[in-house]
Amino acid sequence: MLSVEFYDRLQFTGYYSLVRESTSRILQTAELPVSKPMQKLSIGVDVGGSSIKCALVDTASGQRLERHSVPTPAQGSIEDMLESIASAVDKLPAALPVGLAFPSVIVRGTVRTAAHLNKGWIGRPLGELASRRLGRAVTAINDADAAGLGEQRYGAARDVRGTVLLLTLGTGIGSALFINGQLVPNTELGHLRVGDREAEERAAPRIKVERDLSWDAWTDELNLVLREMHALLWPDLVILCGGITEEPENFFSKLRCEAELRIGTLRAEAGIAGAALATTLGDT
Ligand code: BGC
Repeated sequence: MLSVEFYDRLQFTGYYSLVRESTSRILQTAELPVSKPMQKLSIGVDVGGSSIKCALVDTASGQRLERHSVPTPAQGSIEDMLESIASAVDKLPAALPVGLAFPSVIVRGTVRTAAHLNKGWIGRPLGELASRRLGRAVTAINDADAAGLGEQRYGAARDVRGTVLLLTLGTGIGSALFINGQLVPNTELGHLRVGDREAEERAAPRIKVERDLSWDAWTDELNLVLREMHALLWPDLVILCGGITEEPENFFSKLRCEAELRIGTLRAEAGIAGAALATTLGDT
């Protein structure tokens, strides 16, 4: 049951209607007075290496309201994953569309790779399965592409033209490439070979932990990765996102890149914001 405080907040921000879920789980729609310009709400979900985060997002402003998170059953079955996603999303209004950011190549809603997931996901229609399980329309998208959309619409890449590369640093390295604001989906540059290893096997924060690398040693690895990616794409701007970017004082000044480098401004919530936005854009 949604709290009175929650209704008040929606009313305050001028949402023209909302879906109310009664204790008996019967859906009703309540009309509210319009006091501010119309805002469009969606649910953004980001499936990360350790947690599944979701929030109610105002796609006009990118503002995140009401957040929830649950642990990710990364190697769990497909049913386990859908169940965990549902346990987070079911706390949010039922009739809203869901944007689902997932750590794999996604082509028209279908999972095509599974680097850090149960390989049984490959070939499965994630959008369709999640839509059935959640009882809501679902748009599935690669997690880094979602973070890129978030930063591009609401954050560090807002209004930037030219070639923009966004990298998410976490369990793996995700990439999102924009050319004059247009996303080139599923670029997967975390799997680019840099010397004898994939980029994400050198410089994902997971590797820093697994190999107990010092900040300097890890930054050197990330510099190699940035050099290789720059030589491939010659981006105008590179944006770094992910939990590790919450502590830029440990590494940012030691990074070397010929392109301008920025830390994403939406931090850990870029993927949620971008996933919600994806519900308004259609398939990538
Ligand atoms: C996956 C990508 C994902 C990235 C970040 C990589 O291992 O292949 O699809 O975007 O990790 O989660």
